[in-house]
Amino acid sequence: MSIDREICPGVFWTGVKNPGLKIFDELFLTRKGTTYNAYLVRGTEKVALIDTVKEAFSDEYFQTIDQLGPLDKIDLVVVNHTEPDHSGALEELIQRNPNIQIYCTRAAENFLKQLIDTPLNTHVVSEGDEIDLGGKTLRFILAPNLHWPDTMFTYLPEDEILFSCDAFGAHYCGEGLFDDEMEDFSGEYRFYFDTIMRPFKEKIREAVAKVASLPVKVVCPSHGPVLRRDPKKAILGYGEMAAAPPLSDHPRALILTLSPHGNTRTMAGAVRKGLEEYGIDVVDMALVDMDEAGIRDELERCDALLVGTPTINRDAPPPVWKALALLSTVTPKGRVGGVFGSYGWSGEAVKLAEERLAGLKYTLPVPGIHFRFKPTDDDVQACLEFGQKVGRFLAGEQES
Ligand SMILES: Cc1cc2nc3c(=O)[nH]c(=O)nc-3n(C[C@H](O)[C@H](O)[C@H](O)COP(=O)(O)O)c2cc1C
Ligand SMILES: [Fe+2]
Ligand SMILES: [Fe+2]
Repeated sequence: MSIDREICPGVFWTGVKNPGLKIFDELFLTRKGTTYNAYLVRGTEKVALIDTVKEAFSDEYFQTIDQLGPLDKIDLVVVNHTEPDHSGALEELIQRNPNIQIYCTRAAENFLKQLIDTPLNTHVVSEGDEIDLGGKTLRFILAPNLHWPDTMFTYLPEDEILFSCDAFGAHYCGEGLFDDEMEDFSGEYRFYFDTIMRPFKEKIREAVAKVASLPVKVVCPSHGPVLRRDPKKAILGYGEMAAAPPLSDHPRALILTLSPHGNTRTMAGAVRKGLEEYGIDVVDMALVDMDEAGIRDELERCDALLVGTPTINRDAPPPVWKALALLSTVTPKGRVGGVFGSYGWSGEAVKLAEERLAGLKYTLPVPGIHFRFKPTDDDVQACLEFGQKVGRFLAGEQES
C-alpha cells in the first residue's frame, strides 16, 4: 500500500483520478480534469467506506480497496450523496460484499432504490447519529441540497476530519492528494462553487453554521484536492461566498434588455420611469456583450426582474434565452417578473419569456405587453403604466 493514499493513520483515500477529463458530466468545462474521491476508515472493530466512485472507474477503485484489506471484511459504506459520480460502484460493491450495510439519509435511500436494482441493506441516519468503528466514530451531519436533497457530511471527531461530499470540492486533478501539494487551483474552486453550489446559498449557510464550530484538521471533499492547508478558511470561505446580498432600503428591479433596432430600449426607458415613480431602485443592463457575472450578482439582489425582448425569427433571441438560463444558476432574491418588447408581425417573444419565468415560479403581477415596431406615444404611456403597476406591486410587497 503506497503511503500517498493515507490521510492519517486508519484513514485512506480510495478515489480515482481523471486528469484527461475535458467536460464534467457533459456540463462543466474542466481545465485539469477531476478526481472522484472516496475514503476508507478503519477502526479497531469495524471498517467503513465513505462513498464510491463513478462506475467507469470501478476496477481501479476495487483494486485500491483490495490493497487495503479484504473486501468482505468491510462492514459498511456511508453514502453521503447518491449522484452516480459517487455511487456508481455501489452496485458492484454490494455484489462483491452482500453483507455490507449502507448508511445514508432518507432521501438518499429513496434515490438509491431508483438508481440500483439490487436489494439494499440501508440504515437511514438522522442528524448527529454516530457509528462507533472502535476508536473512530462516524457522525452524520445532514446538509440537504448541497447540491442534491440527499446530501450529508460525515465527521470523524477523533481525527477531526470532515467528509464533506461535493461541498468544498473542485474539478481539479493535481499531482498529489492534498491542497498544499498542488499549484493554485483557486480559479477551479470558485468555478465549482459558482456552477454547482451557488443556486443553494441558503442551504450552504445552514450547513456552514453546523460545521463552523467543529474542530476540523482536514476537509475531505468528493472532488479535487483534500484540504488540510487551512480547512477552517475553506469552511468559512463558503459562508462568505454564500452570504446573503446586501440589503437595500428600497425594492430593487433589474431590467435586462436586448434591442437591435432600439424600440424595445425605448420601452425599457418608460418602464424604468414607471418603476422609479414608486421608489424602486432600478438597474438597467443590456444583453449585448452580456456581463454574466454582473447579471448573476444582480439577480441575487433584485426583488423583480423585467425582461425586454424583441421577437426575432418567431422567438426571443438567443441572448435573452441565455440570460434567462442564468436564473437557475443563482439564488434569486425575489421571484417577481415582467416582460415587454417590440415586434414586427408575429410577436411570440414576450409570451415565451413569460412562460419561462412562470415555469421558474416567478409571479408575474402584470401581463406582458408588446407593440409593433416603433412604439407610439400611447405605447410608451402603456409601458410607463406597466412599470408603475410593477412598482406599486413591489412597494406593496415591501409594506406587507
Ligand atoms: C432578423 C430579424 C428577424 C425578425 N423576426 C421576427 C419575427 O419572427 N416575428 C416578429 O414579430 N418580428 C420579427 N422581427 C421584427 C422585430 O421584432 C422588430 O423589428 C422589432 O421592432 C425589433 O425590436 P428592437 O427595435 O427592440 O430591436 C425580426 C427582426 C429581425 C431583425
Ligand atoms: Fe453531486
Ligand atoms: Fe460530485
